[in-house]
Amino acid sequence: MTLPVAHFDPFAGAPRLHGAARVGIRPGTELIHPLAATGERPLRFAVGGLPSGLTVDDEGIVRGLAPAEPGTHELDVRVENALGAATQRVELVVGDILCLTPPLGWNSWNVYAHEISADIVVRTAEAMVATGMRDLGYQYVNIDDHWHAPERLAGGRPAADPVRFPEGIAAVAERVHALGLKLGVYSDAAHLTCGNCFGGHGYERIDAEAYAEWGVDLLKYDWCYAPKDRASAVERYGTMRRALDATDRSIVLSVCEWGIRKPWRWAGDLGASYWRTTNDIFDTFGWSPLGVLGIARRNLRLASYAGPGRWNDPDMLLVGNRGRGLSTSVLRTPNSWPKPVRGRAFWRFGGLDDTQAQTHLSLWVMMAAPLLASHDLTDDDPASSRDVDRALLTNPDVLAIDQDALGRQGRLAASPRGTWTVVKPLTEGRVAVSVTNLRKRPRTVQVRVADVAGSASAHVRDAWAMADLGVQTELVADLPGHGTAMFVCTPTPQQH
Ligand code: GAL
Repeated sequence: MTLPVAHFDPFAGAPRLHGAARVGIRPGTELIHPLAATGERPLRFAVGGLPSGLTVDDEGIVRGLAPAEPGTHELDVRVENALGAATQRVELVVGDILCLTPPLGWNSWNVYAHEISADIVVRTAEAMVATGMRDLGYQYVNIDDHWHAPERLAGGRPAADPVRFPEGIAAVAERVHALGLKLGVYSDAAHLTCGNCFGGHGYERIDAEAYAEWGVDLLKYDWCYAPKDRASAVERYGTMRRALDATDRSIVLSVCEWGIRKPWRWAGDLGASYWRTTNDIFDTFGWSPLGVLGIARRNLRLASYAGPGRWNDPDMLLVGNRGRGLSTSVLRTPNSWPKPVRGRAFWRFGGLDDTQAQTHLSLWVMMAAPLLASHDLTDDDPASSRDVDRALLTNPDVLAIDQDALGRQGRLAASPRGTWTVVKPLTEGRVAVSVTNLRKRPRTVQVRVADVAGSASAHVRDAWAMADLGVQTELVADLPGHGTAMFVCTPTPQQH
């Protein structure tokens, strides 16, 4: 038994707009913003209310310099094709807060680890366009650890590995930006990164200036080799945030200290857009601290800390790796970390099956998590089941729940044993509800609309199937083992 998952074709049908309804940008900095539209090509875009300095190109990418003054601009976005038209109101919020909705994109780590190269990054960005992921709202292409040259240049300037990034990071940024996407890099708040490349501590200003010059849009800042205490973390992440703010770019800061110093209590106030809440994820579904359920259980407790511009990050997605990710399929344990594999030199993870991958993505969406795919997007071998993976990652109804402008992380509601019901309030009084079967055996779970949506009945849509179920008083989830159903409920007016 598998759950029905719609296969949405981003290049067919009448136009639809999928981009976030609220977009943050710092005053006077470069904006590269894809409007994210699907439908039969060609598509024609028009944007009303665009501040001077910004234009929209034929691909629907808004480019230019954001207004110099803080303030909110209402953009009226319209897209048409031979089959019809769609409109969307987008708020462009010029101010200090970036990532008003969780960032969508890709990160190199889970799949490529130390083998990342300029060629892979550019081919991944191209694949993000070719697969329609950009048109569904994915924007960031993030290079994780190991982009670095063996040493800094004389004078301390950072430089990229001359073999794997022969033309440097700026050349990669140019290619990624030309596709309407954004580029991220990675560093560490100590003298070395986790992979023993040069770190950023003491070089914050030089690094931030170089990143801005290269055209970098996001920095993931790690914590290997850094002090244990929270005060140092607040200080070092704060120093890097200020250095990034002193540049002329909007650069998102992603905090990665694995949730050890409770970053949900301080990282948002420092101006970080999201922070890791757990250990690194590995390609396994279970309850261990490195499995999907173990990580989700921990991140679910932190719902009250998330909001627009500040997100809990339960780590990257495993969808599509299927036990083949370079850093997620094998865990070497020279020491005793983490506990579940003590006594073994390594542990091999076989990956998630289709249903588990669908549950993994469902939970991340319900938790308003950053959705950073981290598999080989360029793989065109049909034997690797990429149709399913693509269907999972490009379901517009599901992505819209993650990207909802209210920015609320879902909370666990009372659930029968062996299940999780997660409730996420959405804009316009709507509510997303997911029901997960934590056990291997299939089961049917009923949830009363009155218990989750604040009204006796609601118009219900099955997000994964992209199907309207009409007005219901009960959500009925027929779940395979480890499966998740996701519904969007629009409460119907109460009868008196
Ligand atoms: C870890 C981090 C991973 C990855 C890795 C790179 O600390 O949690 O996501 O960035 O370092 O070495």
